[in-house]
Amino acid sequence: MGRVALVTGGTRGIGRAISVALRDAGYKVAANYAGNDEAARRFTEETGIPAYKWSVADYEACKEGVAKVEADLGPVEVLVNNAGITRDATFHKMTPEQWRAVIDTNLNGLFNMTHQVWPGMRERGFGRVINISSINGQKGQIGQANYSAAKAGDLGFTKALALEGAKKGITVNAIAPGYIATDMVMAVPEKIREQIIAQIPVGRLGEPEEIARCVVFLASDEAGFITGSTLTANGGQYMV
Ligand code: CAA
Repeated sequence: MGRVALVTGGTRGIGRAISVALRDAGYKVAANYAGNDEAARRFTEETGIPAYKWSVADYEACKEGVAKVEADLGPVEVLVNNAGITRDATFHKMTPEQWRAVIDTNLNGLFNMTHQVWPGMRERGFGRVINISSINGQKGQIGQANYSAAKAGDLGFTKALALEGAKKGITVNAIAPGYIATDMVMAVPEKIREQIIAQIPVGRLGEPEEIARCVVFLASDEAGFITGSTLTANGGQYMV
């Protein structure tokens, strides 16, 4: 097959599992990351997948980064907008910096990245854009006014862009993971995390690979009739 796939935040957590699953499905994968050089170095060593450093919050950096990936691997046909951060605080304590950082990465990052690959996808008449949203963009969450706003925004972006891409062979879909066993969820105070797990009908956190399998499905040529949808994978915690 050999299509080129670019995964943002692709060296750790859910993104790492996505990068590996796409590679195993035959894609040429590039993994973007923003900060953790040591984790990226280990990721490339262990998986053989190249890692590229830039922040999805920076439009010009995205432009340069995507150009580099395309020079190395070829045109990006599958973009997985996975990079995301949390700056949790109850709203009365949330600073403008915490608000902006999350909106810049988790929402503006989708514009910054998708804008780089969209013209090429339109020209070639094929593309897959897969946006990793969250259960908390669907239901809200105490301490996450910034994150929930961004992740809900990702769903609106997905639907609008799906309409624009439809006649050009480009599908745009979202995945809304629930609580997955990653560093991000492990950073939630243990007592609150236990309360959250108690609300998950399947009785456990999800595994990153369970989200990665959703991505491989939506990226496939056979998923061409699915666009503008949100695939929810949350162990039954919230049903839309
Ligand atoms: N359910 C019910 N009550 C909650 C709650 C929850 N999930 N989270 C916080 N609260 C309550 C606290 O018990 C506290 O209540 P009291 O005042 O009655 O004691 C109140 O809300 C918050 O008070 P504070 O502002 O003083 O709390 P804090 O500053 O110590 O911490 C917080 C606030 C940072 C938001 C902390 O509660 C927290 O980390 N909560 C978890 C938030 C969360 O779920 N984040 C998800 C991260 S994982 C992720 O984002 C991935 C994904 O997509 C799912």
